[in-house]
Amino acid sequence: MPFSRILSPLRLGAFWVFCFLIALASWRFLILGVEASMSFVAYHAAERPLWFYAHVGLAPVALALMPFQFWTGLRQRRPLVHRWIGRSYGLAILLSGLGGLMMALGSTSGVVAATGFGLLAILWLGTTGRGIWLAMQGRIGEHRLWMIRSGALTFAAVTLRLYLPVLFATMGEEAGYTLVAWACWVPNMVVAEWLIRRKSKSPVGQPA
Ligand code: HEM
Repeated sequence: MPFSRILSPLRLGAFWVFCFLIALASWRFLILGVEASMSFVAYHAAERPLWFYAHVGLAPVALALMPFQFWTGLRQRRPLVHRWIGRSYGLAILLSGLGGLMMALGSTSGVVAATGFGLLAILWLGTTGRGIWLAMQGRIGEHRLWMIRSGALTFAAVTLRLYLPVLFATMGEEAGYTLVAWACWVPNMVVAEWLIRRKSKSPVGQPA
């Protein structure tokens, strides 16, 4: 079932807007500098600059490219464009996912938050890698399912920033940050698995 039939036009529009807005906002360090725009993670820039810049520079690229990959019309009309965007999405995740993992390992936010982000990084690398490998094998049906999982994890960048102000206001900064390290991606994975099950029940021959 095409993505446009699963989401109403309003939700589909919100999906595109959130992906672009969060990607653009994430590059604020290019204009304002790290210390001024994201002071709470500036220690990563000092301790592991390569991983930090790989992450904050390239993870937004993956986020901005993702909606194009779920655009059924583009996939069907321009398969070559889909492949090239897919390669760029994969490369951005390889480098920024490793950066995210190294930042999680060096995070001062506590072991529970670090484990949440660390597991997210491993699953992000794993689902995306498997999805791309399946496409290279020509196993397109399975490729779609793994890229839905990958996309749900990429979307954690959006859900994190939507939940964070609410959690900070209701639980305080420390507990809120610890919870968001899990809450930003676990529900996304549940929704992805639900979509995948719905997809596998749709009649054979339906475009996905
Ligand atoms: C999905 C896997 C991801 C993982 C595992 C991950 C991991 C992390 C970690 C560990 C930090 C530092 C937090 C700390 O030490 O307290 C961080 C910060 C950051 N991440 Fe990610 N991240 C992921 C996805 C993304 C995506 C898709 C974006 C794209 C917008 C992104 C953009 C950023 C930015 C801009 C920061 C700097 C702080 C901020 O502005 O919130 N991350 N990430």
